[in-house]
Amino acid sequence: MRINAILKNAQPGEQIDVKGWVRTRRDSKHGFSFIELNDGSCMGNLQVVVDRDVPGYEETIKDVTTGSSLAISGALQESPGKGQRVELHASSLAVLGTADAEKFPLQKKRHSFEFLREIAHLRPRTNTFGAIARVRNAISSAIHNFFQSRGFLYIHTPIITTSDCEGAGEMFQVTTLDLARLAQLQTELDFSQDFFGKPASLTVSGQLEAEIYATSLGDCYTFGPTFRAENSNTTRHLAEFWMVEPEMPFVDLPQNMDVAELFVKEVINETRERCIEDMDFFNLRIDKTVLETLDNITQNEFVRLPYTEAIDLLKSSGKDFEYPVEWGNDLQSEHERFLTEEHFQQPVILFDYPRMIKPFYMRVNDDGKTVRAMDVLVPRVGELIGGSQREERLDVLEARMTECGLEPEEYWWYLDLRRYGSVPHSGFGLGLERMVQLVTGMTNIRDVIPLPRTPRNAEF
Ligand code: 4AD
Ligand code: MG
Repeated sequence: MRINAILKNAQPGEQIDVKGWVRTRRDSKHGFSFIELNDGSCMGNLQVVVDRDVPGYEETIKDVTTGSSLAISGALQESPGKGQRVELHASSLAVLGTADAEKFPLQKKRHSFEFLREIAHLRPRTNTFGAIARVRNAISSAIHNFFQSRGFLYIHTPIITTSDCEGAGEMFQVTTLDLARLAQLQTELDFSQDFFGKPASLTVSGQLEAEIYATSLGDCYTFGPTFRAENSNTTRHLAEFWMVEPEMPFVDLPQNMDVAELFVKEVINETRERCIEDMDFFNLRIDKTVLETLDNITQNEFVRLPYTEAIDLLKSSGKDFEYPVEWGNDLQSEHERFLTEEHFQQPVILFDYPRMIKPFYMRVNDDGKTVRAMDVLVPRVGELIGGSQREERLDVLEARMTECGLEPEEYWWYLDLRRYGSVPHSGFGLGLERMVQLVTGMTNIRDVIPLPRTPRNAEF
């Protein structure tokens, strides 16, 4: 039986078997030991009482150290102690795997997140990282539920691609060419000899391929890993992260915003309902304002503000920003934080960004200067979602590609979607890890993905 079920539902008198890892052991002077056992199913430990009469007690108990793994059978009893309803009185105890008390790294009650990043293979055995894994799981499930309950198709778009969706040139190349040998021979790279016969990369987004399905079958979404070789060592960027990207035909930008707002709210609500104990932990130990922040997000309407008005607002704020505020520049994190944390104190959807700072696929507005882009900014995390209405006019799209330095012929299949039955359509991308940061209050994105990939770091 798993410990979450025992702590919640099991009754005194029940015979049970449990398996898990030892958090602590205390030996009483009166000839028995207390073990705190955790199996990852919940934050709470099962208290186990092992009497000296249990067969093999003397030989076994010395191996019951923090980090060791056990299989225990016994009967539940009402616990006289505070803090738990029931405790397990062992009738048999076996050590499955020992953990050398001198060497096991997780001895202290609390370790710094920096230290735990160096032992990322063991950190899920701590309370914080167990809770993060369970919340991340609940968020992923809520994401699927949101779209599945609305009839969206889950589309598995490819990981290897020959197009650069965001046009930012931040792609990891995929090749079977023997680069070391070619460098030795000092020959030119000949991609016709490469596996795909041309340069290929890991995808930065599944959007372009999702558009194929949205303009054939209706509402759909992709949800998978994406890769960006941006050399930024921030608390909000990973080289490998997960993105969920809905794509919807016959939907314009305001409707796209409606979906994004409802989506964020529903995913937060469902996750909170499912992870009550873990969320209380985050609110107590990680960030005392996290539940309040989430209430504020789910209970109020997001502010919707054109980029141009945001620039005016930032300029007249009297704030001394490190990066200059100028129409045509991308917003920096300090600007986003000012808007969401100081000025509005709630999520803000900025839209109609300058054409020159956004990718080729966004629909050009009648002013010619802006595109139908939207970013959802939230307190503490900044940009949570990026999306847009897509350019559905063939001639405008071709001109934009050329302007962005892309060869329209290389995107012939994407242009075909505009040649044959083109429709207005929209979509957005939400970074899963940023959502986990928002919900848990964790400040560093490296702590909300199991094994983070960042510049010079892919150890595990
Ligand atoms: O704004 P982005 O670049 O948008 C797209 O990729 C579009 N193709 C999405 C679409 O319209 N279908 O990325 C979307 C989101 C960001 O708002 C952010 O939450 C996350 O992905 N993101 C990252 N998360 C972690 N590390 C990075 N390096 C990220 N880059 C983007
Ligand atoms: Mg973006």
